[in-house]
Amino acid sequence: MARIYLGRAETDLGGERLLVIKRILPILSDNTEFSRLLVDEAKLAARLSHGNIVQVLDLGRHDGELYIAMEYVEGFDLRELLRRCAKEQIGLPLDFSLLIVSEVLRALDYAHKKRDETGQPLGIVHRDVSPSNVLLSFEGEVKICDFGIARAAGVGGELSPEAIRGKAAYMSPEAASGEALDGRSDLFSCGIILWELLSGQRLYRAPEGQAVALETAIRAEIRPLPAGDYPDEERLRSIVNQALARQPAQRHASAREMLKELDGYVTQNKLAASPLRLGEWLTRHFATDIVDLRREREVLAKQLASAELGPYASSYLHAELPGPPSLQAPALDIPRLSPLPPSLARTMERSSGAPERTQSLLLTIAVALLLALGALTLYLLR
Ligand SMILES: Nc1ncnc2c1ncn2[C@@H]1O[C@H](COP(=O)(O)OP(=O)(O)O)[C@@H](O)[C@H]1O
Ligand SMILES: [Mg+2]
Repeated sequence: MARIYLGRAETDLGGERLLVIKRILPILSDNTEFSRLLVDEAKLAARLSHGNIVQVLDLGRHDGELYIAMEYVEGFDLRELLRRCAKEQIGLPLDFSLLIVSEVLRALDYAHKKRDETGQPLGIVHRDVSPSNVLLSFEGEVKICDFGIARAAGVGGELSPEAIRGKAAYMSPEAASGEALDGRSDLFSCGIILWELLSGQRLYRAPEGQAVALETAIRAEIRPLPAGDYPDEERLRSIVNQALARQPAQRHASAREMLKELDGYVTQNKLAASPLRLGEWLTRHFATDIVDLRREREVLAKQLASAELGPYASSYLHAELPGPPSLQAPALDIPRLSPLPPSLARTMERSSGAPERTQSLLLTIAVALLLALGALTLYLLR
């Protein structure tokens, strides 16, 4: 659907920051129905401002192509973290699993309840709550991205069946069957993530090398959570089962309700974790990966700074890593972060600098003239 780029934005006074640009594929940018919906959804997403949501910074069209600029989160996405854990045979501790899902729920609670200036609910639903859209910064922050974008993807009709199926593993039954849905659909997806983090397995199994079929998501046959070493197991199971109820009416009524349940469980069982500790855990277990990623990012950032924007087929953030099949997500062949093409890099540089530059030039000329005049007067006086 899109290509992801690392970009650099500059301000008039020389401030700069790295950001991520999602360029929508031309075939989709040209589809008016898709573009209209995507623009509508991205506009809604741009209104969201919350610590657990990747901030949308800009939405625009360049040479006919739609793009969304957003905050850059330096870290792993959850799918990538699980792959790395599987490869290194590191278990994700229970308290961190619960922290990640709680932070996602915090974001959903805020977004689902968001109202416009006149107090009307905006009706925002994420629609694609899945591990690849949960970003974990090396500081331990948890942020979700791609709010509402799946809606456009579903309606555009231009996505290949594989691309749609690639998303089925975390879809609620109502989303998979194309029915009307509300925030409780996102809770189901959260339930799948929770189920998988707790069990270390995929909930829906697909034949080797294939993505989960849409029909699997529609059937929503939920296997019981495998027995594990969880404290107060019944309580945890009941939270997971309620989130994964087939009928939305039987799930938690809202993200806040589910969050409160989880929070109660966490407090009762002394499983509270903080982003600080998650960040430390990531740094401890993936120190070399982090150093490698940072080094690669620095190279990219330098290339961007010196405008050497040659094509860079980067595996940045996303080296495909083998892991036990249980944790292996179906591979998606989406190109990963690479530098921004020069045309878009220019788009991101603010063009409103011109008047200020002219002003400072005039000021310099005026000061120079005054100095020359002063020198001339001194000379004549002598
Ligand atoms: N704002 C961001 N900051 C850092 N990494 C990002 C950001 N947005 C996307 N990514 C990375 O790019 C990957 C691909 O994103 P995306 O095109 O949305 O594909 P997917 O369908 O796999 O979510 C994400 O899984 C994530 O690792
Ligand atoms: Mg995504």
